[in-house]
Amino acid sequence: MRIAVPAETQGAETRVAVTPETVRKFKSLGAEIAVQSGAGLASGISDADYEAAGATIAADAAAALAGAAIVLKVRRPAESEIKSLPAGALVIATMDPYGNEAALAALAKAKVSAFAMEFMPRITRAQVMDVLSSQANLAGYRAVIDGAAEYGRALPMMMTAAGTVPAARIFIMGVGVAGLQAIATARRLGAIVTATDVRPATKEQVESLGAKFLAVEDEEFKQAQTAGGYAKEMSKEYQAKQAELTASHIAKQDIVITTALIPGRPAPKLITAAMVESMKAGSVIVDLAVERGGNCELAKPGEVVVTPNGVRIVGHLNVPGRLAATASQLYAKNLLAFVETLIDKSEKKVAVNWDDELVRATALTRDGAVIHPNFAAKPAPKPEPEPAPAVEGSVTNG
Ligand code: NAI
Repeated sequence: MRIAVPAETQGAETRVAVTPETVRKFKSLGAEIAVQSGAGLASGISDADYEAAGATIAADAAAALAGAAIVLKVRRPAESEIKSLPAGALVIATMDPYGNEAALAALAKAKVSAFAMEFMPRITRAQVMDVLSSQANLAGYRAVIDGAAEYGRALPMMMTAAGTVPAARIFIMGVGVAGLQAIATARRLGAIVTATDVRPATKEQVESLGAKFLAVEDEEFKQAQTAGGYAKEMSKEYQAKQAELTASHIAKQDIVITTALIPGRPAPKLITAAMVESMKAGSVIVDLAVERGGNCELAKPGEVVVTPNGVRIVGHLNVPGRLAATASQLYAKNLLAFVETLIDKSEKKVAVNWDDELVRATALTRDGAVIHPNFAAKPAPKPEPEPAPAVEGSVTNG
């Protein structure tokens, strides 16, 4: 059973799908691991580190992929890589399939079984495989570090002989996995932290981290959490009340970190241009939702925008990748835990249980077809039956 780890092809991707630690574990499960030369460099892992853990180093992607039963990646393989994937291999990555149906069709055509790690169900058994959580947690931490670095002042209150430095005010919008870590990090750095969300369950979580909760707590708020634990898209009326409540608060903040997302929808716009204009020169907005359309109207993907009134709006892409070594360490563990469910350890071979709920939730393609219910081709609608020709003298029921 050969596991291949080609280097990531997207220039901005710094993470890697295996670490020496997971290579050792895969070896103990009876797998051979081929890692493309240089695949780990941006995460601080050299070819020698992988070799010392028992991997072989392949000169290029094609050499790594030859004969592989399992291919592990951070991102979906690029079009150019798909032709080198061995038919029948399991290809496991964050697949980002929405809007990329052509790439899905290409994976199906290559006869590989592609799995999307981001579709892992959020059930207890799969917590160790939850890439959204492992990466969002790091993004939340890094957002505070990035915000602090752009902010020209100190975060904690300092009483010095030369005078007192006030504590910075940090406001976190969206308190999921990333937001909670951002609160904890900002608190550790000594800031005065407030936070908002539309899900009532977050109020207690915010307060337990020593931050103050701020939200429009009306009837709609009480119903805002779906059974899956996610937020619903709020009504226009709620959004207007939310904007009114947060506008005056944002004007007084030094750093605002936004993380608000709604599954399957564009990110909600929470910070308008007028709110940005109300902020003090030198204040900072970090928009973690920028890849999904942004929570701040003025955020630009991959840029730090400086507004005419001196507000810096940070729109870094791939924020977990800005902590590549840690992000790879956790992502690789997520992959290892999932792969362990896909193999027969005594026979040392791939043995996928296609009825397992983890497999059903994540499998996108199999045997040449797109099989995930969200993407599988719907049967062509039956043509409408022709209306029966009116027969003279016939009686109809209405
Ligand atoms: P997410 O990334 O989808 O969204 C981030 C946050 O934005 C959410 O808290 C959401 O309520 C909030 N939001 C959406 N619209 C907003 C608005 N208009 N204003 C303010 N905030 C807004 O969420 P994430 O981080 O994936 O977490 C979703 C849920 O899943 C949470 O309940 C979390 O506790 C739960 N979870 C469960 C796990 C498990 O059981 N294994 C693992 C990880 C998370």
